[in-house]
Amino acid sequence: MERLQKLISQAGAASRREAERLIEAGRVTVNGKKAILGQQADIRDKIAIDGVLIGAKAKKLYFILNKPKGYICSVKDDRGRKTVLDLLPDVKDYIYPVGRLDYNTEGLLILTNDGELMNGLLHPGREVFKTYVAKAKGIINDEELRMLADGIMLEDGMTAPADVRLIDAGRGKDSWSRVELSIHEGRNRQVRRMLSAVGHEVIALKRISFAGLTLNNLPRGFYRKLTEREVAYLKGFYK
Ligand code: URA
Repeated sequence: MERLQKLISQAGAASRREAERLIEAGRVTVNGKKAILGQQADIRDKIAIDGVLIGAKAKKLYFILNKPKGYICSVKDDRGRKTVLDLLPDVKDYIYPVGRLDYNTEGLLILTNDGELMNGLLHPGREVFKTYVAKAKGIINDEELRMLADGIMLEDGMTAPADVRLIDAGRGKDSWSRVELSIHEGRNRQVRRMLSAVGHEVIALKRISFAGLTLNNLPRGFYRKLTEREVAYLKGFYK
């Protein structure tokens, strides 16, 4: 038996604090009965939020989304900004993004209610690669590319080695460079901070690949279910 809020957060359905608030608000049931704060439950119990089953009893759902800029990767926002869940209006279940993209970053995001998959893929020891295309101000030279690839000191420590290549660049007054970076860490604003550390402010950032999955032709703002093969492939990273 575990505290209910711990089970809810392990299922990936909410943080512990959010889970406590949901319980206090009377929105959580265990085996059909309204839960109270402090209650213990078992992972095999039927735990539901607003009547929607979560945890082991919930049907597992897996989506891939092409996130546009201007959406936050959170389930709700105190400042009333649009969240990625607004892009999946037909999905009524409790799903959560696997990792985060900044408000102004676009691209590939996986969403699921499978807490095991989420934790499995985000575990730092798993070294799951994510690939980004960043457009930054100025011309990024070979020395800077090498520094980004070898590891660079940020305020939270050295970055791990990364695969980095220059895609193209525009010279002239408003010069810019586009680089592709593959990293396996997932620190807050990592790509923006890496490029800023070598003197180049990011103008646009897109994630094009996560754990080897790509968006293919999924248009910006659209989502689809992952296929069984894709889900099995992702589970292969931690099972
Ligand atoms: N790195 C960033 O700087 N931002 C993201 O959204 C993802 C990776």
